[in-house]
Amino acid sequence: MKITQKCFGNITKMLDFYSQFNPSPLSIKQFIDFGLSACERKSFIFLRKELPVRLANIMKEIHLLPDHLLRMPSVGLVNNWYATSFEEIIQFEKADINESTLDKFCQALVKIRNRHMDVVQTMAQGVLELKDSHDVDNQTENSIQYFLDRFYMSRISIRMLINQHTLLFGGQLNGQSSRHVGCIDPVCDVIGVVRDAYENARFLCDQYYLASPELIVNQHNELERGNEVRIVYVPSHLYHMLFELFKNSMRAVMEHHGDQAGNCPPVCVTVVRGKEDICVKMSDRGGGIPRSQTDHLFKYMYSTAPQPSKSDVHTVPLAGYGYGLPLSRLYARYFHGDLVLLSCEGYGTDAIIYLKALSNEANELLPIFNKTSSKFYKTTIPTGDWSSQSTGGMATRQFCVSPGHGHRLPHGMQASQC
Ligand SMILES: Nc1ncnc2c1ncn2[C@@H]1O[C@H](COP(=O)(O)OP(=O)(O)OP(=O)(O)O)[C@@H](O)[C@H]1O
Ligand SMILES: [Mg+2]
Repeated sequence: MKITQKCFGNITKMLDFYSQFNPSPLSIKQFIDFGLSACERKSFIFLRKELPVRLANIMKEIHLLPDHLLRMPSVGLVNNWYATSFEEIIQFEKADINESTLDKFCQALVKIRNRHMDVVQTMAQGVLELKDSHDVDNQTENSIQYFLDRFYMSRISIRMLINQHTLLFGGQLNGQSSRHVGCIDPVCDVIGVVRDAYENARFLCDQYYLASPELIVNQHNELERGNEVRIVYVPSHLYHMLFELFKNSMRAVMEHHGDQAGNCPPVCVTVVRGKEDICVKMSDRGGGIPRSQTDHLFKYMYSTAPQPSKSDVHTVPLAGYGYGLPLSRLYARYFHGDLVLLSCEGYGTDAIIYLKALSNEANELLPIFNKTSSKFYKTTIPTGDWSSQSTGGMATRQFCVSPGHGHRLPHGMQASQC
């Protein structure tokens, strides 16, 4: 904790300064145009302001978290990482722009990206530490859910900026084909990504259940009939969402049809390109989700899976951390898409990923620190003005963690790599 205080003592003024600015969201088209003109100088000038702005905006929100959460060791650790990275970036605020500065900047970005590799699981650990040591009331639950959505979204965006700069100017090709512009594929083959994600999820499913559902894919391109669906997008983000959805669907199908595992119903994926939207719908016959649970699905740490075994850290579990859906929805929303689940209990679930079809409409969605966001951490939950189903009291949403989920860490989460 001491280090935290020391760091913040030095940087408070700078944090106040940079947090007054709103982050500047970029569209995928802007990322592409910028990448094609590939001017390192311009990118440097943009990032040396934009990165501190995005960092400062979210750091201000970290400081608004309930005191008892801020005191958790893992949250302190994350806080320190942010303070250190912020300090490192603002070193470049007034630097002369020359080869050496540009090189050092690239190196600093790589260092920051590595430092923040485990932020998702460390912050999750902080929340678990809180739950282990305190009773957490509904208001705190709501603040944490609100914060984590914004915090993880901010992180996705900061990594996107860092990845673009380092891939374009840091000489890291990262095994990508030459058509990629940084981490964006201008003609991303959606079905190709679907198949990749399916194969990898299937591998896990086979390990657990010794069987797995088949995949059926359909596509419909409303704009260019007969052509496959292509999108300007970040394939790793799309892969992340699909991999999570496949794991969920496969688990549901195998659990629901356990007795006829060799003959379980397939998972069907339909990819459609319309004028505005690209939809990827995954339909399973895994027995569906009761309506009483739908409010919980996107809550961090809500899971009905047994706790993944800690004995073998090298095994990726098929389910169990309760981060799959909320993080995937953030990836979808990051470029103004969405992720929704529709379920018929007793039958199966449709999960739909919506993406913007036009790259100029696919703008980053970024959290902004201001009075509205600050208020959220302080307001009490309003009194319900509809009668509740269970009691005569007000309707509140519970942070729902299935039994046995008290002490685990989402090590298997892949979000941190994107
Ligand atoms: N297709 C589905 N069919 C039935 N239930 C589902 C489906 N998708 C999600 N669920 C339910 O939603 C819960 C939360 O899903 P989520 O992916 O967020 O976490 P998880 O799969 O339990 O763990 P992980 O973080 O490893 O993904 C699941 O535990 C499961 O109960
Ligand atoms: Mg899951």
